[in-house]
Formats: sequence, C-alpha cells, structure tokens
Amino acid sequence: MKASVIVAQLSTSVLSQSNRTARGGLSATQALEQAGFFAGKVHAAHCLALSDADIDNLSAFWAGQPAGSDTTVTPEIAAVKKSKMTFPKDFPKGFTLYASVNKEDQATVAQQYVNSVGLAAVKAGKPMPDGSVIVVVNLAAKLGADKKPIAGKDGNWQTDTIKGYEGMEARAGWGKDVPELIRNVNWNYALFGADKAPKTEVNQAICLACHVPAAKNSYVFSFAKIQAKATAK
Ligand code: HEC
Repeated sequence: MKASVIVAQLSTSVLSQSNRTARGGLSATQALEQAGFFAGKVHAAHCLALSDADIDNLSAFWAGQPAGSDTTVTPEIAAVKKSKMTFPKDFPKGFTLYASVNKEDQATVAQQYVNSVGLAAVKAGKPMPDGSVIVVVNLAAKLGADKKPIAGKDGNWQTDTIKGYEGMEARAGWGKDVPELIRNVNWNYALFGADKAPKTEVNQAICLACHVPAAKNSYVFSFAKIQAKATAK
C-alpha cells in the first residue's frame, strides 16, 4: 500500500513504526496533531493526497524537532499556527466581487472578492503572486416567514447582516515558517469576525492543509470563477 493511502485513511501505525526515529520519537499521529491536523472537527489529512516524497518531507521536518516535543508546542509550530494576515484596510475598495455562492447548510451567502494584484495575474494567465488577497464575506441570508432564505433576482439569496470573513493573502516570506508538506507558497489564512477583528484562536495549519490540493490553481479552489470574471467582457 502506498504511504499516501495509509495517511489518507489515517492508519498511521505502519508509518509510525517506519518513521519513528526520523520524527524524533513522535508517532505520525502525534506529528500531524502538533501541526494542527486534527484540531476542530476537520480531519484535514483526508484532504491531502500525500506522496511518499511528502512523507519523507514530513519526517525530515519532524527530525529537526527535539524528542518528546509532542508534549510542548515548539516555537516553530506556534509560528505555523498564527496567521500573518490582517484585515485589508479599506476593503472592499480595490477588490472585485468574482462570485456569490449560496451555502445551503448554513443559510449563508458567501461573496468572494479578489484584489487587483490577484485578478491581474489570473487575467494574464499567471499564478497569483505575492500581494494577492482573497476575502470571502459570509452574510446571513434573509429569511422569509417560512424561515427559508428568500431568493434574490440574480439567483442568490437576499442578504442580511455580515456573519464574518475568511481571508487568504500571499506576501513574500510568509511561507518560510510553514513545513513544506502543508506550505501553500506564501499564502497565509485567517478568519475575521463581523467586526473585522482576527479570530486569533484559529490554527491556520488546518486551512493550509486543506487548500494543498488546489496547488495547481494557486491554492485557490474558486480559481475558475476568478478566470471567468477576469476574462468576461
Ligand atoms: C475541508 C477543507 C477546507 C478547509 C479546512 C478550509 N478550506 Fe477554504 N476552501 C475550501 C474549499 C473547497 C473552498 C471552495 C469552495 C467554497 O467556496 O466554499 C474554499 C474556499 C476558500 C476561500 C476562497 C478562495 C478559494 O480558495 O476558493 C478562502 C479565502 C478560504 N477558503 C479560506 C479558508 C480559511 C481561512 C480556512 C481556515 C480557517 C480554510 N479556508 C479552511 C476548503 C477548505
């Protein structure tokens, strides 16, 4: 069985035996846990298509960690968890709305915005460079008497108040503290409340891990929608 399959199924016992020394005594589960993979409800490791080379990478990273470091959060890991992104000043000025999505399970409308740097790169057929920023505004759908979202003219639900924001931003050097396995070039990720204050309790390792499969599209899942917006007349 390939290592990727083993990790995807979270059957880490084989791995923990073969790589235990390399990880400075940490089991694969402990290693992943410290990187924040199991925090919250999301088992982000499911989202990763890990190759054998990726596993070697992870091992190499953990080999640099002191033995027994599973009981203490090292400064390196603390650095990964914390996002460098701050809420963009003057938002939505300088941003383009490229998509609105009705989220059925949450009665939420997600309005997705990209800044001019990111949009220009996509328009030119290039990867999104440092300086790119994406912000998703999550708005509560306006509910009718039947407690169901009210449809708007454009196919999206009518919106009520802002619930909060999701963001990703790339800046030079921001990826260097992130283990290669979950690095998204220089992207950092953050959640903000309705008041635009960062939710500092968020561990961005989870965001990074889950966005890895979108690597070929600058780590942006809705890349095709930005392309459509960029090329629309
Ligand atoms: C379980 C996997 C998963 C996790 C965890 C995750 N994302 Fe995403 N994210 C997605 C998917 C899939 C989309 C595109 C679909 C959508 O719009 O809902 C997306 C879309 C986004 C977008 C819009 C740009 C894009 O890629 O389409 C932003 C910004 C974003 N996520 C931020 C975050 C932040 C911040 C976190 C961590 C707090 C996070 N994500 C965690 C899967 C994930």
